[in-house]
Amino acid sequence: MKTQLALILAATLSVPALAAEPVAKGDPKAATSIVTQVCAACHSTDGNSATPANPTIAGQGYEYLYKQLMDFKSGERKNPVMAGIVANLSPADMKNLAAYFSEKQAKPRTAKDKDKALLGQKIYRGGVQGSGVPACASCHGADGRGIPVQFPRLAGQHAAYTQLQLNSFRAGERANDAAKMMRVISAKMTPQEMEAVAQYIEGMR
Ligand code: HEC
Ligand code: HEC
Repeated sequence: MKTQLALILAATLSVPALAAEPVAKGDPKAATSIVTQVCAACHSTDGNSATPANPTIAGQGYEYLYKQLMDFKSGERKNPVMAGIVANLSPADMKNLAAYFSEKQAKPRTAKDKDKALLGQKIYRGGVQGSGVPACASCHGADGRGIPVQFPRLAGQHAAYTQLQLNSFRAGERANDAAKMMRVISAKMTPQEMEAVAQYIEGMR
């Protein structure tokens, strides 16, 4: 059911040229020297970053990871730190890096604020009646593991990073979401709802 709904939503909402698409797989082994020399400092060698501002990228979908790296490079997704990092990477490097991190295991975390996480669970599973926020589960999956190729994994992500992304979608600073899906959704959310759902997501496993 959930998967079907996501597919229907995807079919009606997505603009193919901007959405993550199936991409021939890179070679994870070929990425190891770039990982240790560049990425590990912020995302850790296994992709489970220790600092909340740096996202965990372990276990994230291959196509999504590749799309984000390409978007940082083209400026479609704006971030000064990542723009500097990808400037010297080729599409082949980015495929290898996406393959490397997609094959790593995301380590579980726990929600730090249980009360907020409880409200967040309601929003994640059922959306917000009245304001029209849809259930996050309908696209990101009931378990938060995402639905390849279009919908990224959220489960276990640092709450601070999730909140930051929701705010930047809302402000239109992050505008690389196909068919404005996340910009439309985040515009309907209050800061409290964003915080609550980010808390719940950090504890999802
Ligand atoms: C100096 C720290 C730093 C380094 C080094 C770094 N990153 Fe990042 N990375 C970040 C930050 C901060 C973000 C979040 C950007 C934002 O808020 O949009 C990010 C975001 C990302 C994302 C998007 C994740 C998502 O969930 O959308 C990917 C993919 C990524 N980095 C991959 C890499 C790879 C691969 C390397 C090595 C080639 C690397 N990063 C090196 C700090 C870093
Ligand atoms: C209609 C489908 C859909 C629904 C419903 C949806 N999302 Fe998303 N979401 C997406 C897509 C597509 C992306 C990837 C955008 C891109 O390609 O950069 C995304 C990306 C995200 C990201 C960025 C992930 C990262 O690693 O940077 C966060 C955070 C997020 N969504 C949170 C939520 C939350 C919270 C909800 C529920 C309130 C929700 N989403 C509901 C489609 C959806």
